[in-house]
Amino acid sequence: MQKIVILDFGSQTTQLIGRRVRELDTFCEILPYNKFPTDDESVIGVILSGSPYSVHDPEAFKVDLTQFVGRVPVLGICYGAQFISHTLGGKVEKADSREYGRAHLETVDTGNPLFRGFDQHSQVWMSHGDTITAIPDGFQVIGSTKDVQNAAFWCPAGTALANSQFTIHNSQFSSHNSQVTIHNSQFSIHNSQFTKGIWAVQFHPEVFHTLQGSLLLKNFVVDICGSRQEWSAASFVETTVAELKEQLGNDRVILGLSGGVDSSVAAVLLNKAIGSRLTCIFVDHGMLRKNEFKQVMEDYKVLGLNVIGVDASTKFFTDLAGVSDPEQKRKIIGRDFIEVFNAEAKKIVNSKSSNCKCRWLAQGTIYPDRIESLNITGKVIKSHHNVGGLPKEMRLQLCEPLKWLFKDEVRRVGRQLGMPEHLITRHPFPGPGLAVRILGDITPEKVRILQDADDIFIKGLREYKVKLSGEEARRVLAAGVPADMQNGEIEVSLYDQIWQAGVILLSKVRSVGVMGDERTYEHPVALRAVTSTDAMTADWAHLPYDFMARVSNEIINKVRGVNRVCYDISSKPPATIEWE
Ligand code: XMP
Repeated sequence: MQKIVILDFGSQTTQLIGRRVRELDTFCEILPYNKFPTDDESVIGVILSGSPYSVHDPEAFKVDLTQFVGRVPVLGICYGAQFISHTLGGKVEKADSREYGRAHLETVDTGNPLFRGFDQHSQVWMSHGDTITAIPDGFQVIGSTKDVQNAAFWCPAGTALANSQFTIHNSQFSSHNSQVTIHNSQFSIHNSQFTKGIWAVQFHPEVFHTLQGSLLLKNFVVDICGSRQEWSAASFVETTVAELKEQLGNDRVILGLSGGVDSSVAAVLLNKAIGSRLTCIFVDHGMLRKNEFKQVMEDYKVLGLNVIGVDASTKFFTDLAGVSDPEQKRKIIGRDFIEVFNAEAKKIVNSKSSNCKCRWLAQGTIYPDRIESLNITGKVIKSHHNVGGLPKEMRLQLCEPLKWLFKDEVRRVGRQLGMPEHLITRHPFPGPGLAVRILGDITPEKVRILQDADDIFIKGLREYKVKLSGEEARRVLAAGVPADMQNGEIEVSLYDQIWQAGVILLSKVRSVGVMGDERTYEHPVALRAVTSTDAMTADWAHLPYDFMARVSNEIINKVRGVNRVCYDISSKPPATIEWE
């Protein structure tokens, strides 16, 4: 299958570039900047991402451009553009002031294939400390903003590049039917066909604030690189089911379900491939949302899945008693989870009731979990637990059918498989569940209080409808929420507008209140709702005041143990989404 390679120089928006390319029904792989697959014939284009570094930093990431320049079209974004310029003889200097935020293309060459269909004055999003003050010889400027002269430039096929570091002699590009030789001390492409152009933009086409960013990427991926746009949910289901049948043969498979969209979609996909030879295990640790275990079990039954539900809440509550430290809670839950899961898995692996042997453990791992991230800061903020650590004696191999998909693609695949919408658009929920939303030690009574408050908040978010337009509507649609655009507007629930929401119980705090004639001395809860695209960064959601007033009233009136409701207005960074 054709593929675009995105070389990652450590930008926060690299994954977003990947998602935008996939939205164009084109497969792409995000690889560390120094891992270009030189032997991979399926690569049809390369995108160089942004970076937290300046090209002048001694530790700045560098790539050998000769691996792909000239052979496939190249697009440099932000640092990628600066790196191309710096390496090929242009000049990159510190900008007088950081160029950050909205800008407009004062001039744009709509005759260039990259900008075909662009409006004059199109809004773009800048975010860089350095700026390109001179482009390399042979390049031409194709877009400028008021402050950034070299906002976009390209090296058209048929142009000779010449500079001290990178020289192309006798160059004739494909449009002129010939070959090019590049030779100098650092770069040499001898006798290779220099048939494709180079494009570079200092702004970020992948972010929503660049209003025609998707058009730019479509122009690059489809028109310039020649993508046949074969990557779709339907084609994914068809090929993956066929591959799973082939890979798994007559074997049985175990899968851990969490109620979340990833493991649920993985289960339905596997069920389609091998039917009842898939056994799913759903462990209730007692800290799920109100009635969630029961409801999700019913959903799974309707979907025809073979599920074993294990209520292990007593074990978890016993082992967590008196523990307040967040990381300690996570460790206990992770350990207990593995114990309970393993005990069930062993029964299946050792079962003699079927001729089919169980050789596989399936997981709903998705692409962002696997992208090899560049360790820029070297710091772990929180440890996250996934199912893992199955005993070696079980000898199970891993099966990860969603390992190439982004979250919105998982949702599309779920729809393609006919899954109910409430399972598909379910918010992410942490593995340790409400345990990391109760500040302090955990008791069944505290979980009950939190479940009741959380249930009111989540139901309220599902019921409250909002009309969205512009960037906000585009963001929500791109996240895979189904809604029809009418007169430039979509109507969705607050639940669908936001990435994730929940309630936090401040169980160590008590405050005074008054209810009727009585003084109360109870706990506050904090409501948390954030917008995000990947949980790496998040903004607190601007919920309507009338909604917050209604939820606050209902929680205080109905949930015994709570007499105050606060709203968390911190973004990530510097806060995190969860409080623990
Ligand atoms: P933070 O709090 O780090 O959360 O901003 C980012 C995303 O990760 C989820 N999260 C967890 N998921 N185990 C999980 O499976 C955990 O221990 C855990 N802690 C946070 C969080 O809900 C958000 O989606």
